[in-house]
Amino acid sequence: MSQQPLFTPITVGSLKLPSRIVMAPMTRNRAAEGQVPTPLMAEYYAQRASAGLLITEATQFSLQGYGYPNTPGIHTDAQVAGWRRVTDAVHARGGRIFLQMWHVGRISHPVMQPGGALPVAPSAIAAEGTLYTVEGPKSFVTPRALELSELPGIVQGFANGARRAMEAGFDGVEVHGANGYLLDQFLRDGSNHRTDAYGGSVENRARLLLEVTEAVAGAIGADRTGVRLSPMNPFNSMSDSDPAKTFSYAAGALDKLGLAYLHVMAPVPAPETPRILPLIRERFRGPLMTNGGHTLQSANAVLNDKLADLVSFGSTFLANPDLPERLLKGAPLNTPDSSTFYGGDARGYTDYPALTA
Ligand SMILES: Cc1cc2nc3c(=O)[nH]c(=O)nc-3n(C[C@H](O)[C@H](O)[C@H](O)COP(=O)(O)O)c2cc1C
Repeated sequence: MSQQPLFTPITVGSLKLPSRIVMAPMTRNRAAEGQVPTPLMAEYYAQRASAGLLITEATQFSLQGYGYPNTPGIHTDAQVAGWRRVTDAVHARGGRIFLQMWHVGRISHPVMQPGGALPVAPSAIAAEGTLYTVEGPKSFVTPRALELSELPGIVQGFANGARRAMEAGFDGVEVHGANGYLLDQFLRDGSNHRTDAYGGSVENRARLLLEVTEAVAGAIGADRTGVRLSPMNPFNSMSDSDPAKTFSYAAGALDKLGLAYLHVMAPVPAPETPRILPLIRERFRGPLMTNGGHTLQSANAVLNDKLADLVSFGSTFLANPDLPERLLKGAPLNTPDSSTFYGGDARGYTDYPALTA
């Protein structure tokens, strides 16, 4: 069993991981008032500390970057103190944990923004559908296009958040460049119609992602910095006219930064995946993590095929606190309950049973 590639150690930046099994970032909307991480969150992450690496739920570095109720922040002292409880609990169990950091961009609403302001985005283009806010579901509004002069503040915001994450005891930071949030809104041309140095060509559209990643790496070390991308994910009304070109370029540019890893959401059954992942693999020579619908078999296969070096598991890890042990033993898996994914209490959060109590 131990010959399975999933269970072989790997060095990621400055960390030695005992396995290639990663817990994918998952928003759970259980932070307290002031977007402060709670003791229950510390318990949840500590229960899952046997992962090769844990990546937290997406965390905002400013109130402007806030979109959904009760997602945690990393911009106040109370939030840093709350996260310190989480990292201490994970480290006490021998685990390693990165903070995923986001700015939601247009995926917010005036009721979630300071002073009822419009959410911001590369361009004044609304996402379709509704957002779940503190006042219930609301239709997306047309966001305000960020001024060129505001972009250095976004870059600094990510870097400051990364410094705060180090204060909170994290082993590193994953820059959220995926799933239709601000950096992805800049990267893909469906949501970026700018005509300045941050729009148009792929070099321009990738500029903010690269500036942010460089600033985070400059603040905490490239060996503690990861990036997440989702080339084919249409979630949050996202599209790109040439994903192969866009994401090959981004992967090649990120390669030059000497990052801890690149995390690519590339669901296994999607027909595009075989096309995009090898392209990224060719251009990004550091540790490559893949994600999306993986089982023990598919994860071992993707590693055996050298398409990736690590595999992250989302809902399976959510429902199985001892996932590495279960995979190793071929034990049955608990089924995730999607009704308790977002918000609530310990139910569907810290009460999924482990094999051994
Ligand atoms: C409850 C839930 C919350 C999620 N929140 C995030 C998030 O905060 N950041 C992120 O990058 N992806 C998020 N995702 C996507 C997961 O990281 C992952 O890409 C997705 O679940 C597919 O992997 P899986 O098939 O192993 O679950 C979330 C997924 C779930 C199920």
